[in-house]
Amino acid sequence: MSKPACRKKQELKTDNMSQLSSRHVIGIEHLTVDDIQLILKTATQFKEIINRPIKKVPTLRDITIANLFFENSTRTRISFELAQKRLSADVINFSSSSSSVKKGETLLDTVNNILSMKVDMIVMRHASPGAAHYLSERIDASIVNAGDGTHEHPTQALLDAYSMQEKLGDLKGKKIAIIGDIMHSRVALSNIYCLKKLGAEVTLCGPPTLIPKYIQQLGVHVIHNVDEALQWCDVANVLRIQLERQNTKYFPSLREYALYFGVNRERLEKLDKEIVIMHPGPINRGVELTSDVADSEHSIILDQVENGVAVRMAVLYLLANKGQV
Ligand code: CP
Repeated sequence: MSKPACRKKQELKTDNMSQLSSRHVIGIEHLTVDDIQLILKTATQFKEIINRPIKKVPTLRDITIANLFFENSTRTRISFELAQKRLSADVINFSSSSSSVKKGETLLDTVNNILSMKVDMIVMRHASPGAAHYLSERIDASIVNAGDGTHEHPTQALLDAYSMQEKLGDLKGKKIAIIGDIMHSRVALSNIYCLKKLGAEVTLCGPPTLIPKYIQQLGVHVIHNVDEALQWCDVANVLRIQLERQNTKYFPSLREYALYFGVNRERLEKLDKEIVIMHPGPINRGVELTSDVADSEHSIILDQVENGVAVRMAVLYLLANKGQV
C-alpha cells in the first residue's frame, strides 16, 4: 500500500506584520493608513491560501464569532461566514426576523446574551448609523461593522481598494469616480475615506439631490455629468439606487435616472480609453448599470466578491491578534 500523501502545512508568513491600531473595525474613518495597508497586505496572503486545494487554516479554531444581521444581505453575510470557516472559527448566525428582538429586546441585551455564551467577536449589520460604535463602547468583544445604515461599510471599501490595486497597482494618483446614490450609500463614504487615505483622487457623480451638500469637505470633486466622470476616471465604482432608503422622490423616474446617469455600452464606447467598472452589488440592472457593461470584460464585479473573502479573513485574523497560522 502506498504511503498517504503528506498534507503541506498551510502557512501564513507573519514576519514584519504588526497589529491594527484598534480592537474594532467600525469604519474606515478611524483606521490609519498603516491599518489599511496591513489589512490589504494580509489579504494577499489569504487570497493565496484560499486558492490552494486545501483552503482552510486552523488559525481561529479557538475563536467563536457571531454574525448579527439586522438587515438583509447576500454577499457580506456569506463572505464573512466563509471567511470565518476558512479560518476554522466556530460560527453562529443570527437573523433578527426570527429572534427575540421581535419581542422587544434591546440591541444591547441581545448582544450581551450572545456574548455570555462565550462568543469572542461580533460581526454586525444594522439599519441604524452608529449602531456598531454604540455597541463597541458597551461590550467587551471586538466588533466588525458589516454596514450601519447610511454610515459606513468598511470591509466593502477594503475589498474595493484591494480589487482596484490588483487591477491598477498602487492607487496613489489614480482617478476613481463614484457614480450614483451617494446620499444613501455607506459604501460611498467608506470608499471616500479609504481611497483618500491611499492617495487616490475621487470624483462623485450623480443628480444634485443624491449628493450631500458638504461632501466636498472630504476632499472630493463633484460633477453631475456622467460622461465627463467616465472620461476623467480610471475606475468607475457605480452604486445602487437605494430605493428602500428614499422616502421622497430624488429624481422623476428610474427611466430618467438610467437615461442621464446610467452607465451603458454606448457611453463607454464614446471614451478614448478603457476604464474599470465596479459595483458593490446588488445591481439594479438597466438602472445604474446595463447588463452588457456589468457582464463585460471591463467589469471586475465578481473579482470584488471573490476578494471579499480574503479581505474579511485578514480583518478577522488581525482583530483576533494571532501570531501565526
Ligand atoms: N455589497 C453588499 O453589501 O451586498 P449585500 O447587501 O448583499 O451584503
